[in-house]
Amino acid sequence: FWLIVGIRRRQPGEPPLENGLIPYLGCALQFGANPLEFLRVRQNKFGNVFTCKIAGQFVHFVTDPFSFNSVMRHGRHFDWQKFHFATSAKAFGHSNIDSSDSEVTQNVHDSFLKTLQGDALDPLISNMMENLQHTMLQNSSYKVNSKDWVTEGLYAFCYRVMFEAGYLTLFGKEFNSPEDKNLARQEAQRALILNAIENFKEFDKIFPALVAGLPIHVFKSAYSARENLAKDLLHENLRKRNNISELISLRMFLNESMTSLNDMEKAKTHLALLWASQANTLPATFWSVFYLLRCPHAMKASTEEVQRVLEKASQKVNCDGRYIFLNRHELDDMPVLDSIIKEAMRLSSASLNIRVAKENFVLHIDDKQAFNIRKDDIVALYPQMVHLNPDIYEDPNNFKYDRYLGEDGKEKTSFFLNGRKLKYYYMPFGSGKTKCPGRQFAVHEIKQMLTLIICYFDMELVDKNIRSPPLDQSRAGLGILQPTHDVDFRYKLKAH
Ligand code: HEM
Repeated sequence: FWLIVGIRRRQPGEPPLENGLIPYLGCALQFGANPLEFLRVRQNKFGNVFTCKIAGQFVHFVTDPFSFNSVMRHGRHFDWQKFHFATSAKAFGHSNIDSSDSEVTQNVHDSFLKTLQGDALDPLISNMMENLQHTMLQNSSYKVNSKDWVTEGLYAFCYRVMFEAGYLTLFGKEFNSPEDKNLARQEAQRALILNAIENFKEFDKIFPALVAGLPIHVFKSAYSARENLAKDLLHENLRKRNNISELISLRMFLNESMTSLNDMEKAKTHLALLWASQANTLPATFWSVFYLLRCPHAMKASTEEVQRVLEKASQKVNCDGRYIFLNRHELDDMPVLDSIIKEAMRLSSASLNIRVAKENFVLHIDDKQAFNIRKDDIVALYPQMVHLNPDIYEDPNNFKYDRYLGEDGKEKTSFFLNGRKLKYYYMPFGSGKTKCPGRQFAVHEIKQMLTLIICYFDMELVDKNIRSPPLDQSRAGLGILQPTHDVDFRYKLKAH
């Protein structure tokens, strides 16, 4: 009987178990409604490690940040890509890449590290700098000048500027340079981006449903949005573009050796990268700009920092079509902006770090605690429990722009719980082997956006005392949460 209704009995040595009240779904609805509250209640009841049945899976939550290292140390017992490949196949519609084919998975993983980190960041950063300024200053639909205020939704603004600049940085352009004055090419480029933004929004809206296992055919317009996005990314179309990033060109090369993928499926591996590069970055940019505009201390400190770095780099802002450039090292010398971005992400991140057990094994937490884990079970960390823990972060729901600044004005890295220094206090990018490979680029591009709006625009929220819009909890588990509604702001070019 227990097997038929999918209920598991806790065996000796296993963590405390909650099957939930509903067959198959288990605790999924309660967890989905408010994961943080759900986990805090179970932590109080069961202790720091417990198991919940969620949508047919048994998930072992490890909630004490001092135990996270122990989870990382058991890497050889986990298949950390099985879940990712299966989720990616479900959401983007390519066939499932076999995670047991270690050569393929290693190649894919290595390609991310090779093309998104270290020296590979330099061309990404310089292309992004150019693309951001092109999008902000030359977009013909919004006539920014130094006399008239333009009013727009802040999320809409961050979305369109970052999406366009990020898309062009990864997938290249149909024209060669901003000096390329071929109007037809510029227009075609603009039409492609505007379509891509609308399609991305439509597809991203149902992303949580796809991850939960609903078939995309239920959502007709999202399905065609996804297919249209992918069509632009067919290899034959990408080959017509200039200045494609190393990330995408290497992936095109790897795809060519995967005979199991047809042309559209190859395009969908690029769509997965488009999603990974945008879905978190867009809301993270919104929250960073929102808090910057709402907090005069943050604005003052960051304006001073931007001026210092520009002067040191001998860059002058002018609106005569010449762009400013800051390289990786100059951007790395901005601890105030780093702190603002970190604090904005601490408040808005709700990712779930997941690992799947390859075999039955014993998870040793510390000298006193060890738990039996069964093959195919999931071990999960939910960093929001750390990010919003008042014993780690005082007044955790409030934005403090200098929370990650030390007294010496440099990055602060000492955070404590019960008098012990924490290694894991900030994890919006995941942890261990599954950590986001694009995290450095992500922070750089948000920092570039903040720098440029400070340089070029006078900006203010229409309602200066507006409260933060609530986080859209329907995406909890997937990363940085979006605001449930937009916030109006106005901007005009600074008179230089
Ligand atoms: C994976 C966060 C931006 C590329 C991930 C994961 C997280 C994450 C939490 C999954 C880690 C896990 O499963 O435990 C973020 C956040 C971003 C961001 C918060 C922005 C604020 C980017 C950007 C890129 C990128 C800009 C690329 C240009 C990737 C890729 C993966 C990934 C390729 C999959 C890695 C794999 O499966 O091996 N990201 N990310 N991300 N991210 Fe990011």
